[in-house]
Amino acid sequence: MQKRFYLETFGCQMNVVDSERIVSMLGEIGYLQVDAADDADLVLLNTCSVRDKAERKVYGHLGRFKPIKDARPALIIGVGGCVAEQEGEKMLKEVPYLDLVFGTHNVHRLPELVQQAEAGNRRLSVTGFLDQETRLNLFPQRSELDTVTRFVTVMQGCDNFCTYCIVPHVRGREISRASAEIVREVEALVAQGAREVTLLGQNVNSYGNKEDGEISFAQLVRRVAAVEGLLRLRFTTSHPKDLSDELIACFAELDNLCHQLHLPVQCGSNAILTQMNRDYSREDYLQTVHKLKAACPDIRLSTDIIVGFPGETEEDFQQTLALVDEVGYADAFTFLYSKRTGTPAAELEDKTGARIKQQRFERLLELQQSRSREIWESDLGHEFEVLVEGESKQGDGQMFGRTTANRIVNFAGTPDMIGTLVDVKITRVFRNSNLGERVVS
Ligand code: SAH
Ligand code: SF4
Ligand code: F3S
Repeated sequence: MQKRFYLETFGCQMNVVDSERIVSMLGEIGYLQVDAADDADLVLLNTCSVRDKAERKVYGHLGRFKPIKDARPALIIGVGGCVAEQEGEKMLKEVPYLDLVFGTHNVHRLPELVQQAEAGNRRLSVTGFLDQETRLNLFPQRSELDTVTRFVTVMQGCDNFCTYCIVPHVRGREISRASAEIVREVEALVAQGAREVTLLGQNVNSYGNKEDGEISFAQLVRRVAAVEGLLRLRFTTSHPKDLSDELIACFAELDNLCHQLHLPVQCGSNAILTQMNRDYSREDYLQTVHKLKAACPDIRLSTDIIVGFPGETEEDFQQTLALVDEVGYADAFTFLYSKRTGTPAAELEDKTGARIKQQRFERLLELQQSRSREIWESDLGHEFEVLVEGESKQGDGQMFGRTTANRIVNFAGTPDMIGTLVDVKITRVFRNSNLGERVVS
C-alpha cells in the first residue's frame, strides 16, 4: 500500500524551501503527501525557534499527534528545523513518543532516518553543523513544483549575531552558492514555467563576501535579471548595513526587478540599535531609504520591528514610531521581544513591565495599520501589471496575482492567463489584498 506522510511547516522561507525538498525526497522513497495527520504513516513538523511562542507551539502540536500514535504505534513522528537543531536529543527525552529529530544541516538525511524508523530503529537524532564544503554540495536539489513564482536559495546561515536572535545559532555560518549554479537553476526554473523568482537567504546582501573571486550580490541580481523569460525578480532578506549603492542602482536600471523591498529596521533608536548589534544608525537607515526612493520613486518597503527590547525607554520607542511614520512602510511585521536562551540579550537587565510593552506594541500596530491603509488606498483607481499566479480561493472565475509591489490582486479572469502579465485597475482595497478589474487596451 502507498505510504503517506503529513508535513507542517512553520517559520521563514528557509523552512519553506527545506520543506519543498523534504516533499521531493520522501516521494523518492515511496511516500505520498496527505493533508491530514490522521491517516498518515509519517508525520513531520518543520519548526521555527525565532520566538518563544513559536517554540512552544511545537510541543503543543506534537501533543495533537499523541492520540494517533497511541492508536497506531507504527506511526513515525519526526521534528526538523530550528527547534530540532536547538534542542536535539533533549526533544526525544521530553517527548517519549517522538521518533526522529533532524537539524537544519541534516535535512538530506531524512530519507535514511525514515527507513531506519520503518525497520524499527527509532528514537534517532541528527543535529550539528556541517563543514562548508559538504554544505555547498548539498545546496537545494529542486522539487517538482510547477508554480509561476519560485524561491532560489543563494546563501544560507547568518554571521551577524544580532544580540536577540537565535538564527545564527540554529542555522550556522553564512555560506554562498556559486553564481553560475544559481543562474543555471533560474534558467531551468524558467524553462519549467516559472516567471518570477525570489532570491533567498538570511542576509542576501552579503552574498559572496566570504567566497574568493565570487561576484557581488548586485552583480548576481543583474545576471539573474538577464535570464530570458524571467518576468520578475525579487530578493529577501536584506540587512540594511550591507545594502550597497550598486544594489540600489539595480532598482532604477533593471526592468524586471520588482519595486518592493523588505528592509528590517528592528528599532528607531540608536541606543537600542547599538545594543542589538545591528551595525547601522537610524540616520544610516533613513539615508538608505532616501536613496532607494530616489532610485525608484514607487518602491514599496516593508520591515520587521521588535518592541520591548531590554532597556527600551519611552523615548527609544517614540523614535521607532517617528521612524515608521517617516518611512511609510507598506507593511510591517511587528514582534514583542522574546528572550532566547543563549543569546547575549538574554543576559541584559529588563525592567520594563509586560503591560507597558504590550501597550507600546499596540500603539505601533495602530500607527502602522493607518500608514499601511493610506499607502494601499492610494492604489485605488490606478492600473497595475499583475503577474497571474492561479485561480483565487473564492472560485467563480476569479484569478489572483501580484503587483510589482507584492500586493495580492483578485480579478475576474481565466486560467489561460496564469504565468502572464495582465493590466488590472484596482476597484477595492482590503487589509491584505486588492480587488480589481482587467483593463483591455
Ligand atoms: N534574517 C532576517 C530575518 C530573521 S528572523 C533578518 O535579519 O532580517 C525574522 C524577524 O524576527 C527579525 O527580523 C526580527 O524582527 C524578529 N526576531 C528575531 N529574534 C527575535 C526575538 N528574540 N524576539 C522578537 N523578535 C525577534
Ligand atoms: Fe537574526 Fe540578525 Fe541574522 Fe537577521 S541578521 S538572522 S536578525 S542575527
Ligand atoms: Fe524561524 Fe529558523 Fe527561519 S528560527 S525564522 S525558521 S531560520
